[in-house]
Amino acid sequence: MFTAERVRALVPKVEALAHELVEKFIHKGECELIRDFALPLPGMILGEQLGLDKNDFARFQRWALAMLATSNEIMSEQRLREVADIELDAQHYLAEIFEARRRQPTGDLISDLVHAAREDEEPFTMHELQNLLNQLITGGYETTTSAIAHGLWLLIQHPDQYQKLRANSALLRRYVEEVLRLESPVQGLMRHVTKDTLLAGVALKAGETILVRFGAANQDPEKFPDPRRFDIERPNAAFHLSFGTGVHVCLGQQLARQEILTGTKVLLERLENFALNGPMPDPPHVYSLNFRPLKALPIRFTARPA
Ligand code: HEM
Repeated sequence: MFTAERVRALVPKVEALAHELVEKFIHKGECELIRDFALPLPGMILGEQLGLDKNDFARFQRWALAMLATSNEIMSEQRLREVADIELDAQHYLAEIFEARRRQPTGDLISDLVHAAREDEEPFTMHELQNLLNQLITGGYETTTSAIAHGLWLLIQHPDQYQKLRANSALLRRYVEEVLRLESPVQGLMRHVTKDTLLAGVALKAGETILVRFGAANQDPEKFPDPRRFDIERPNAAFHLSFGTGVHVCLGQQLARQEILTGTKVLLERLENFALNGPMPDPPHVYSLNFRPLKALPIRFTARPA
């Protein structure tokens, strides 16, 4: 889906959008980093890759939050109806795009999905396409948002690591891996046991559901000594399980890594003297069983000389 080649071709677009977003708040010396940068950057890139109109970003964001509501909220009846209406809006909108791309492909990701069928296979059904888009929209940007925001918050809390990164931008790649390890945007996912199994001495029965905790695995002291320490030079940081593993390993990991790296690179190029602008929300995270979204990241900064 997001091959290295496709992601490489996207880098100038990600960089340009990151500068465009910074341009909107740099003169104020402060911003709410999630609303003003970390959410629109991956969101607009994904929206565009899907072939959605950039001006529809607010609508796209409403879809993503509604689709994520089932795992991020304990919902009232009224909220459930609201969420259902928004998801219906998404499905109608996407169904029209699927049909338009079936008739006239445009080279975007939805065209690829609509026409993705081997010789002996039927193309994806409407139901399958809707499910795939739901996975892309829910998995494809709030996760990256969480990593970009957690990364900057970690740099503010660890000035020694911030200075190291400032002094040596070649550490950016390892910084991205260490942020993904320490603050895994997807903390866990469900698995259904398909046959009776013994896992680490625990008997699992076919039909049972288990919750695989990627975030916990990334804190295994046998694998990552002093696991709670934020260390952008940690040699094996990239061996985290934040993108899962096996047949369901994340299809967007290349894109995610690139967006976190390029987004952070532009923030560091344009701004300095980062500090929290007031207290963090308490607790700082939105309640979620599987994800780790920050509620907000209010920061202040000074613009770097051009
Ligand atoms: C930092 C950002 C991201 C994180 C931490 C993340 C994490 C994950 C994890 C843990 C899984 C499940 C793996 C499993 O079940 O074993 C997954 C699956 C998936 N991710 Fe991501 N993801 C990120 C960004 C993205 C992006 C940007 C896209 C696409 C635009 C994407 C698309 C997908 C898809 C389609 C799957 C389903 C794969 C399957 O079931 O076969 N993800 N992701």
